[in-house]
Amino acid sequence: MTTTPHVQPASDALRHAEVGGSRAPSNAPAARGSGTVIVGLQWGDEGKGKIVDLLADRHQAVVRYNGGANAGHSVVIKGERYALHLIPSGVLRPNIACIIGNGVVVDPDWLSRELDGLHARGVDTSGLLISDRAHVVMPWHKAEDELRERWLSEGALEPIGTTKRGIGPCYADKALRGTAIRMGDLLRPDVLSARLASICRLKTAMLGAITGPDQGMTSYDPAAINELCQSWGRRFGPYITDTAALLRARLSAGQSVLFEGANATLLDVDHGTYPYVTSSNCASHGAATGSGVPVTSIAGILGVMKGYSTRVGGGPMPTELIGNDADRAIGEGIRARGREYGTTTGRPRRVGWLDLAAVRYTASLNGVQGLCVMLLDVLAGVERLRVCTGYVLEGRHIDELPPDAYLLSRCTPVYTELAGFGDITQARSMSDLPSAARAYLDFIERTVGVPVAYVSVGPDREQTIAAISGGAGAGSSGIGGVAPKAAR
Ligand code: GDP
Ligand code: IMO
Ligand code: MG
Repeated sequence: MTTTPHVQPASDALRHAEVGGSRAPSNAPAARGSGTVIVGLQWGDEGKGKIVDLLADRHQAVVRYNGGANAGHSVVIKGERYALHLIPSGVLRPNIACIIGNGVVVDPDWLSRELDGLHARGVDTSGLLISDRAHVVMPWHKAEDELRERWLSEGALEPIGTTKRGIGPCYADKALRGTAIRMGDLLRPDVLSARLASICRLKTAMLGAITGPDQGMTSYDPAAINELCQSWGRRFGPYITDTAALLRARLSAGQSVLFEGANATLLDVDHGTYPYVTSSNCASHGAATGSGVPVTSIAGILGVMKGYSTRVGGGPMPTELIGNDADRAIGEGIRARGREYGTTTGRPRRVGWLDLAAVRYTASLNGVQGLCVMLLDVLAGVERLRVCTGYVLEGRHIDELPPDAYLLSRCTPVYTELAGFGDITQARSMSDLPSAARAYLDFIERTVGVPVAYVSVGPDREQTIAAISGGAGAGSSGIGGVAPKAAR
């Protein structure tokens, strides 16, 4: 029989984390409650959705702060699989406010389908709220995304390998301002209708210029787009509000909030493997701007990583398992066992050895206080496990991930080899794990310099090990009540 693991609310467990050498203030007037950020430490699909679902019931609100329908977060509860794209993964827990923050770009058609799918399965979505400041992904954003990718691949440039969900063009319009449409605009049809004639004219001309004269033009009819916007306004009107004010009020009232990162740090537009990144600040820094709360309200940061690496789309991946037939066979085994196919696009994910040089960089960048090591079970049966701890770049050893894709593509990984282990899917405590699996986790902790807070040994909510003992107020040593190794 399996039982739901006892998990500390992350904000509690991490509330007393040392910040800048002093205790984080728990009574700052702007934010008496506390926030915990769940952030991906690799190239996405680390299992953020599972961790958010796991911790959501100890929080009063969950907010998505970045990205759009490019994200795909899977949650498995008693064998039932749910795939979430725009709606926060907290939606599967009752009585929680689920907020789509201002940093998200919302495709209303996707959101409609997602809501309908959840309703058909009996999920209560009455806690959903959408920021009036969140930007709307319009039909021309998706068309432009597709066209730009094609244009790059036809030229001398490598395409980004986007999800074609219109993410980049929508964030570009957000920065450009004049042609952007926000969710709040859908509630003012008269004002919007007056702007749409100009916006449609410009978008028709722009897309025509990328397509070229012989390819057939997409023409945007303002009346049809206006009708579409009005239908979105009618459907989402009840959900659209000033979610930033609401979140600050909740924090001031002492509530705790979970910030759900989408995409992941190596895809962060500023700090990732540029230009093969997405267009938002996926790293923990994006949580405050992407939801409209003070930075001081964030008390805990949990970093989610898998026991190996995956990447979807273009860009360098030094540890990718493609070097020879033996490597490819290991990669294919991991892909099959880990169901490594995109939740959003179905594309096979590229698979590689765990890159701890990359994780050390992202953990340090984000200020991560606890690691969630996911999909560890997927490594079962691989006899010798390789872990990258640094690179050789132009004959020099480096420990840090280089700042851009050009340099990273020239890096050769430096590996340490560790012993493999067998099936661990039934483990429910650290002591249930074989010694080789514990040694693998110890190696991760030591190399990254951050304690392991959770270990995941299967997709189901119940297949989770809380590596934390002690917790809030327990006065335990170690970071934020995360017990040191010896206590496990
Ligand atoms: P996210 O985008 O970070 O939320 O991750 P995804 O949901 O896109 O991808 C993670 C995949 O791994 C999903 O199919 C999860 O159901 C699954 N998963 C999560 N944790 C585990 C685990 O510990 N073991 C296995 N085998 N699968 C897991
Ligand atoms: P979650 O939240 C994996 C990748 C795309 C592409 C690049 C840019 O499920 O972890 P975009 O459509 O955003 O312009 O694509 O970013 N990408 C993801 N890869 N998981 C994700 O989200 C991703 N979101 C974007 O594959 O390489
Ligand atoms: Mg995903």
